[in-house]
Amino acid sequence: MHKFASIPGDGIGPEIVTAAKKVLEKLSDKHNFSIEWKEFPNGANHYISTKEVLSEETIEEIGKCEAILLGALGDPRVKPGILEKGILLRLRFAFDQYINLRPVKFFKGVVTPISSEGRENLSIYFVRENTEDFYIGLGRRFSGKHDIYTTTLERKLYRMRFKIDVDMEGEQESSYQLGVISKTGATRVIQYAFQLAKEKGLNKITCVDKANVLTEMYGLWRDVFSEVAKRYPDVETNFGFVDAVAMNLVRKPEIYSVIVTPNLFGDILTDLGAGIQGSLGLSPSGNINPEGISMFEPVHGSAPKYTGKGIANPIGTILAAQMMLDVIGENKAAKDLENAVYSTLLERKVRTPDLGGDARTDEIAEAVIAKL
Ligand code: NAD
Ligand code: IPM
Ligand code: MN
Repeated sequence: MHKFASIPGDGIGPEIVTAAKKVLEKLSDKHNFSIEWKEFPNGANHYISTKEVLSEETIEEIGKCEAILLGALGDPRVKPGILEKGILLRLRFAFDQYINLRPVKFFKGVVTPISSEGRENLSIYFVRENTEDFYIGLGRRFSGKHDIYTTTLERKLYRMRFKIDVDMEGEQESSYQLGVISKTGATRVIQYAFQLAKEKGLNKITCVDKANVLTEMYGLWRDVFSEVAKRYPDVETNFGFVDAVAMNLVRKPEIYSVIVTPNLFGDILTDLGAGIQGSLGLSPSGNINPEGISMFEPVHGSAPKYTGKGIANPIGTILAAQMMLDVIGENKAAKDLENAVYSTLLERKVRTPDLGGDARTDEIAEAVIAKL
């Protein structure tokens, strides 16, 4: 028996999570295990009616589950950031999910915007750092001549206190936002990326940053990468600046196998990765804490314009659920599900509009179930 938390969230979130749950129900029957879902209502509607974003009690409740399946957060009725930071980032930080694993591959049967010829087996594992960088949420917007900001960054690994005293001459309103990279924070995720490169037999890893401009944070990041690399002499290492890597991902993505990158660049590059795959609706994401509770979700957001239309592609979420099963040890079922998704895509019979078809979200779930 597995107990999973589900947070359908906003926009298309509930539709795609429903589809993924349906598929898992069939899969668990076939592989003789059972799933108990504990669903949490957090998201825009809950926030609008209760003013609550995510309570400590809810985090505690979620903490009693084995893993989390999440749809998406963000709603045009709510100011940007309240739900995204208050729920999604809060959960990633609270459960110290320091790895964000986002595989990108070319699926047979899916039309890609760049040629797939000779690249049929393209597969890139993005390992995105998930608890630091410019995502820590520390910063300030201020007016006037003088501003003092004191704050604390709390992580499982450390507690960092800041006191910033600004004297301003001239400009009236200003803002700043802080980023943090710590040695232990960088080490653990970079180590995971090397280990992954070895396990997958890829033996090649690219460190992506902007160490030529953000020299403090990404200087440390690079030093840590070089340090960890010494322990993996069989793995070929490369460095890339994020701007050039963005270009190469379109022009010759096959030069990459595993990419390890700080949080913000990882966010941007994985939407680009989804783009070259053929649809943002296809990409899964795992927020992983190898020693704790991990959370699985599609790479995409709540796609408000599709809300309630029943045409969102649920494949990214189904593949996220597949990653969840793999991480918690239902490896046989996970492999089975992966094959079912691949053959559904290969067949090209049942496809949502983003892939050029006219099928509905629940028809994709049914098609995958039929393959199972
Ligand atoms: P988005 O990822 O929600 O959508 C961008 C576009 O991608 C959509 O307009 C649609 O054309 C396409 N798309 C996305 N998912 C799809 C699917 N399953 N099937 C078919 N097409 C799909 O990005 P956005 O429009 O920039 O953001 C909308 C909201 O989602 C915002 O509030 C944003 O903050 C939030 N967001 C949340 C997450 C998350 O919860 N993990 C991720 C990204 C954005
Ligand atoms: C993602 C999203 C989130 C991120 C936002 C909604 C906080 O874009 O999961 O990619 O930037 O990590
Ligand atoms: Mn994103």
